[in-house]
Amino acid sequence: MADRYLNFTGTAPGRFLTRRLGLPQPAPLRRWSAAHPVFEGQLLHFTAGPSAHRGELSELLGRTGLQVRGSLSGGARREQPVGVVVDATAVDGPETLAEVHAALHPVVRTLATSGRVLVLGAPLSADDHHQAAAQQGLEGFVRSLGKEIGRGRTVNLVRIAGPVAAAESTLRFLLSPRSAYVSGQVVEVGPGDGDVVVPADWARPLAGRTALVTGAARGIGEAVAETLVRDGAQVVLLDVPSARADLDRVAERLGGRALPLDITAGDAGEHIADFTSGGLDVVVHNAGITRDRRLANMDAARWSAVLDVNLAAVLRTTDALLKAGAVRRGGTLVTTASIAGIAGNTGQTNYAASKAGVIGLVRSLAPRALAGHGVTVNAVAPGFIETKMTAAVPLVIREAGRRMNSLGQGGLPVDVAETTAWLASAGSAAVNGQVVRVCGQSLLGA
Ligand SMILES: NC(=O)c1ccc[n+]([C@@H]2O[C@H](COP(=O)([O-])OP(=O)(O)OC[C@H]3O[C@@H](n4cnc5c(N)ncnc54)[C@H](O)[C@@H]3O)[C@@H](O)[C@H]2O)c1
Repeated sequence: MADRYLNFTGTAPGRFLTRRLGLPQPAPLRRWSAAHPVFEGQLLHFTAGPSAHRGELSELLGRTGLQVRGSLSGGARREQPVGVVVDATAVDGPETLAEVHAALHPVVRTLATSGRVLVLGAPLSADDHHQAAAQQGLEGFVRSLGKEIGRGRTVNLVRIAGPVAAAESTLRFLLSPRSAYVSGQVVEVGPGDGDVVVPADWARPLAGRTALVTGAARGIGEAVAETLVRDGAQVVLLDVPSARADLDRVAERLGGRALPLDITAGDAGEHIADFTSGGLDVVVHNAGITRDRRLANMDAARWSAVLDVNLAAVLRTTDALLKAGAVRRGGTLVTTASIAGIAGNTGQTNYAASKAGVIGLVRSLAPRALAGHGVTVNAVAPGFIETKMTAAVPLVIREAGRRMNSLGQGGLPVDVAETTAWLASAGSAAVNGQVVRVCGQSLLGA
């Protein structure tokens, strides 16, 4: 369903009226398009404290095609930067934390519409509470700036826990139009331990990879499959047999293979392993359902229907696929959580329990799956995404869902798809055990 308010605020009378009334003025987001796949223009690179990464980071940022500058000086002042990167990995106390303020304070106003602020931090030290305090301080800083910056601009924090090179796919994603609806997030990038494969072509980072997407007949799953194909992957599309017609249509359009299967079947994992002959690199657990009722009105059938699809089937198929060796080394599992699993939601004790469960699965399994199978495990947690599911929500609640985030609008299925594609790349093998919200920095559970 079209966001009429967003369209209205894009017109001259709409701008005038909403400004006069003090109403939110969401900016149309700049997303990936074939004509404009990346940002062009200036990227400011600042360093707070004595960072060891300066030279390497500068080279990496230069490879994005953006013009990297250390300051907004002279003629450059006339150009609005499209991004600002602040390397705060060396921040270890209030003094160096102040350098983050000093770097961003003079330039934040000049940042282009839909521009990007990226702060790089370090993992919190267990031995140095001054470092830990300042590094945790970066989270408060980033989340607050994300809430106030406006005009479709995003602010994220990446904690570098290994070589900077292992974070290249993550930095590129967060500095590109692909991450339009990702803001206020903290992502840790580990050492990668030699598993990171730099894509030969950053425009097709999934070339040579085979991905299974569950719930792919429509909505977010269809968008995920489409985006993975755009990035070079072969796809296997799974959905319930009753959605066969839609599934076949999507498979034909994308040149993928359809697998009609109810993911709650006890042998679904074995069935997938047979169908794909052990040749999967990416598994996207996207299939999900809601059966909302307040707990007092929720019968056992509603509870178990949701828990079966959203959690039990994900646990069972994951175990079966890993046991069968159906996911190749260097592969990845991406599960779909929800902000309801983080913040909770009225009428959704079943759904929120299942989606919080998915987060628990990721946190526990990620280190073991990597050590045992060479496979990473992460979650995307969508906020309010414009789909058939959210179009059915009553008007007032729908409007609240759309506006109650820093970007003042709902996300699109493609926003979840872009985040999934970033995690699905062999270039992202150093990202493990992360839960990344695609929610425009929803105010719920913030
Ligand atoms: N739309 C949102 O705002 C939103 C927000 C947070 C999380 N999510 C999650 O994103 C995922 C996709 O959501 P959507 O909005 O695209 O939903 P959707 O209802 O449009 O699509 C879900 C798909 O999953 C399939 N599916 C359901 N049960 C299945 C089963 N047992 N086996 C195989 N396939 C099955 C459905 O047939 C459908 O095609 C879900 O996990 C949902 O919980 C969505």
